[in-house]
Amino acid sequence: MIRTEELTRTFNGTVAVDSLSLEVFEGEVFGFIGPNGAGKTTTVRILCCLIGPTSGRAFIGENECGREPDSMNIRQMVGLLPESPGLYERLSAYRNLDFYGQLYGVKDGERAERIKELLTKLKIWKRRDEAISTFSKGMRQKIAIARALVHKPRLLFLDEPTAGLDPEAARTVRRFILNLKKEGGTIFLNTHNLYEAERLCDRIGVLNTRLIAVGSPEELARRYWGRTTAVRVKTLTPRIMEAVKALDFVVSVQEQDGGLLISLDDPDERNPAIARAVMENGGEIQSISEFKHGLEEVYLKLIGEST
Ligand SMILES: Nc1ncnc2c1ncn2[C@@H]1O[C@H](COP(=O)(O)OP(=O)(O)O)[C@@H](O)[C@H]1O
Ligand SMILES: [Mg+2]
Repeated sequence: MIRTEELTRTFNGTVAVDSLSLEVFEGEVFGFIGPNGAGKTTTVRILCCLIGPTSGRAFIGENECGREPDSMNIRQMVGLLPESPGLYERLSAYRNLDFYGQLYGVKDGERAERIKELLTKLKIWKRRDEAISTFSKGMRQKIAIARALVHKPRLLFLDEPTAGLDPEAARTVRRFILNLKKEGGTIFLNTHNLYEAERLCDRIGVLNTRLIAVGSPEELARRYWGRTTAVRVKTLTPRIMEAVKALDFVVSVQEQDGGLLISLDDPDERNPAIARAVMENGGEIQSISEFKHGLEEVYLKLIGEST
């Protein structure tokens, strides 16, 4: 659905995005994470044909970004929630959406139906006739999201959709995104909220001007930490600890909360041998499970290494 080849954009000689080669597949939620100034917004603006690349190419489907008539097609195919969406303050929520729908050539009846559907899902239908100027930040954001969807785009770009929202509004927006995903939509999500990325995204790209890593949250955690088996025993003794350390496939062993955290390459193969070693040395096993490293740890490690 999205493909970029060595995509690069500079502003007055400063590189904002450097040789980005990336693929995003139909039906997935792809998250772009990275610190402020990493080039996330710049990438999205290129993909939505709002600015051109300095070098390299980007495609949405078969259409090349920044090339006519392809850009016209792309604008119809994509919806964008920009970083700071401008709405018509004096118009009502409904009129704002109606105006956009018209702009995109959505027919009258269909438009009315679509606006009602979106505003209902976003829990804002009751306020449809009120002017935007009276709306809170969270409500404005919902209107801006509805606006990005009014023409039923096949691909939705969300640039920091929950930034600055209160927890409840953020949750409504996240649930809404998950529902779009269930309906089969393709979503490109810029965020520096790792909690959000971990919960919403099938795959994540870590960007810091250059692309540092791509993978599912679990893959990233595994790739940068290896895998870890957690064993809880009734009473942990030095003898058990030593026996586990002595296993040749074990990379490292840590004690945590009276249990063991064991780093190793192939837990599916090796966990039975760990269990045997523990039991043969007097350990009574309460549980064996995979310990998952959070995305936050992965992210901080990657960004730390890249700067
Ligand atoms: N229109 C612009 N003019 C000059 N510099 C820009 C412009 N847009 C972005 N930049 C610069 O490009 C870099 C990447 O910015 P941006 O894409 O907004 O990052 P992010 O969205 O990851 O925070 C930053 O250094 C920013 O200052
Ligand atoms: Mg940005």
